Amino acid sequence: MEVGQQGTQIKFDNQEHLHKIQAWVQDSRAYANLGKCANYIPALERANPSQLGICIIGSNGSIVKAGDFNTAFTLQSISKVIGFIAACIDYGIAYVLERVDVEPTGDAFNSIIRLEVHKPGRPFNPMINAGAITVASLLGGRNPVEKVESICLLIEKIVGRRPTINEDVFHSEWQTAHRNRALAYYLKETGFLDCSVEEAIEVYLKQCSIEVTTEDVAMIGLVLANDGYHPIRKEQIFSKEVARLTKALMVTCGMYNASGKFAASVGIPAKSGVSGGILAAIPPRGRSTDSPFMDGCGIGIYGPAIDEFGNSVAGVKLLQQIAREWDFNIF
Ligand code: DON
Repeated sequence: MEVGQQGTQIKFDNQEHLHKIQAWVQDSRAYANLGKCANYIPALERANPSQLGICIIGSNGSIVKAGDFNTAFTLQSISKVIGFIAACIDYGIAYVLERVDVEPTGDAFNSIIRLEVHKPGRPFNPMINAGAITVASLLGGRNPVEKVESICLLIEKIVGRRPTINEDVFHSEWQTAHRNRALAYYLKETGFLDCSVEEAIEVYLKQCSIEVTTEDVAMIGLVLANDGYHPIRKEQIFSKEVARLTKALMVTCGMYNASGKFAASVGIPAKSGVSGGILAAIPPRGRSTDSPFMDGCGIGIYGPAIDEFGNSVAGVKLLQQIAREWDFNIF
């Protein structure tokens, strides 16, 4: 039994499923050498590419952790999910969707091409960089510090501890974020940024640099799986509408231009980041099977060797195996 720092998070180890997960982590780790750590953000290149870890938290508070589950990593694009939820909480869904659409692109996460080709330049969705920078600019708060705070507060409410920002990763990307600045300048020109370019980039890169473990990510997945309700804290953290919209965006855009393949081969709402993290939400299933986690669960994965789309190679393999063995596919 484990009691969280604030006494609110009671979780118990799920021994029954531990051995299976450990074996699957071992199988999937072999695929890590097909990927590489992100090198366009210098600080991320220093990660150990052979690492793979997972944490699964069930709605009843049971927890399974295996492999390198305790390694700290930065959220990167997983933060786009939290930023989107925070903006919807602060301003309502309608206001946010006036500024960012909900269509997949089929392009790379940092692509600039559609902003100009499709008038009037509204970013296609909040899971690509253009959409996430737009969302970062409209977060509640008068300056970058307050805007980042609205994301940190939401994470704190979910995971039960205050997240920290990895300043090394932030500064490393701040100095090399030329393409993100190009996106932001374009968005500023077309009227989609609610603050200055440098402020929006600061918020966006700081949210990407929030440091977590697989357990934190699993807890976020758990709340999404339960339509915004935190089954361990017994509190509605955000509305069912926001949760369902976010999961729809995860299914259609969460794994970038590999989202279609991921939906077809794994079939669960998920969001990846270039640091090698994956957030997944498995909603409760109505029909009864003997699979574990029938009441839903959240999954956090870390495997820093990524493929050409920006998704953890071993992490995707691991999710694919678990989804198949435990009937997690939502379709
Ligand atoms: O803006 C970037 O390029 C990074 N901070 C985050 C990108 C990312 O995680 C895309 N993921 N697969």
